[in-house]
Amino acid sequence: SLAWYRHMREHAPVTYSEQHQQWMVFRYDDVKRVLSDYETFSSEVESEGHTLTPMDVSLVALDPPCHRHLRALVTQAFTPRTVTQATARIEQLVKDLLEKHMGRGEMDIIDDLAYPLTVTIIAEILGVPVSDQERFRHWSDLLAGVTPFDGSDFTGEMSVYFSRLLDERRREPREDLISSLLAAQVGGEHLSTLELLGFCILLLVAGNVTTTHLLGNAFLCFDEFPRLLEVLARDGTLLPGAIEEVLRYRSPLRFMFRVAKKDTHLGGQSIHAGQWISAYIASANHDEAVFSHPERFDITRTPNPNLSFGHGVHYCLGAPLARLETRIVLEVMLRRFSSIQRRPGSMLEPLDPQGFMQGAKHFPIVF
Ligand code: HEM
Repeated sequence: SLAWYRHMREHAPVTYSEQHQQWMVFRYDDVKRVLSDYETFSSEVESEGHTLTPMDVSLVALDPPCHRHLRALVTQAFTPRTVTQATARIEQLVKDLLEKHMGRGEMDIIDDLAYPLTVTIIAEILGVPVSDQERFRHWSDLLAGVTPFDGSDFTGEMSVYFSRLLDERRREPREDLISSLLAAQVGGEHLSTLELLGFCILLLVAGNVTTTHLLGNAFLCFDEFPRLLEVLARDGTLLPGAIEEVLRYRSPLRFMFRVAKKDTHLGGQSIHAGQWISAYIASANHDEAVFSHPERFDITRTPNPNLSFGHGVHYCLGAPLARLETRIVLEVMLRRFSSIQRRPGSMLEPLDPQGFMQGAKHFPIVF
């Protein structure tokens, strides 16, 4: 909780948890350093001697120089243009999803809007055929833990599926991300099949649930500060600032992991090579050394250097897409509905308070 973070920032900003067998880091400057100093804090956290899976060679799990090479390839294909080109489609899809629930005048922000929106958009950007999108969504649910694990080898199934799709696009390229990924090259080198699979799977893992909870967290903020929706409805130019403040105030990701590559010092503590560190983004975003009155929800806060999308070489590749989807949903809803409220009497159940993600499981609204 925020009170606990404040206590830790003040009294034990870098502390070893025997229970979790890892260091926990709470202050802004330290969190920023852990996230970006890859010489000392490695992202290659699962380097056990097992067989290499696509996720081991994905961006989030690699340090430079491998990371630099892979990121250069991927950013050739996943460009700002990829994202802006999706604008009209996102708007259409939001309208369709709202239309479905107009009759009843109520819906769940998480299940009925945010999640179906983010999964469909990423499937369409990748170029997954519409007829396969049910299956795609099922995998996304499994990866996100939305559906309980059914014992099936679904990452194996995904690999087979995407390998086939890659073969198809190799033969006949289209206007989609998979075709662009196949075409990308740096210094004459292309992405390997394992890297391509890793990236496709990473987009599902990293993109859908996070963005879903960014939107859910926006509604949690509206619920906590009731005048906010009114203010935003009157002046839409305030939306981007409001979204940044939602990111700061309720970061979708509570912390990120690293592993120490060598012995080092942080916040007066000695960290040894091989030890795990969790960098508490959610605490850094409330550090009073950087944000004045961090407990205030201020949509005009400038600058707002929150760490919710990370920092440094691993800075979130999907940040523009996440911001765009959230802005469009809020714009369309504010335009269409004169009143939006949490369903009276509904209880909000938080996601696991020890977990990685921060948000509510459901957010029922009436409009
Ligand atoms: C990396 C957060 C949405 C794709 C990251 C990182 C954070 C983050 C904190 C850094 C990880 C690290 O330092 O270890 C978020 C949040 C999102 C969001 C809060 C939504 C609100 C998305 C979306 C996509 C995406 C929509 C894709 C369409 C990625 C990728 C990386 C990444 C590929 C790895 C970049 C790299 O390692 O170079 N994200 N993300 N994210 N994110 Fe996001």
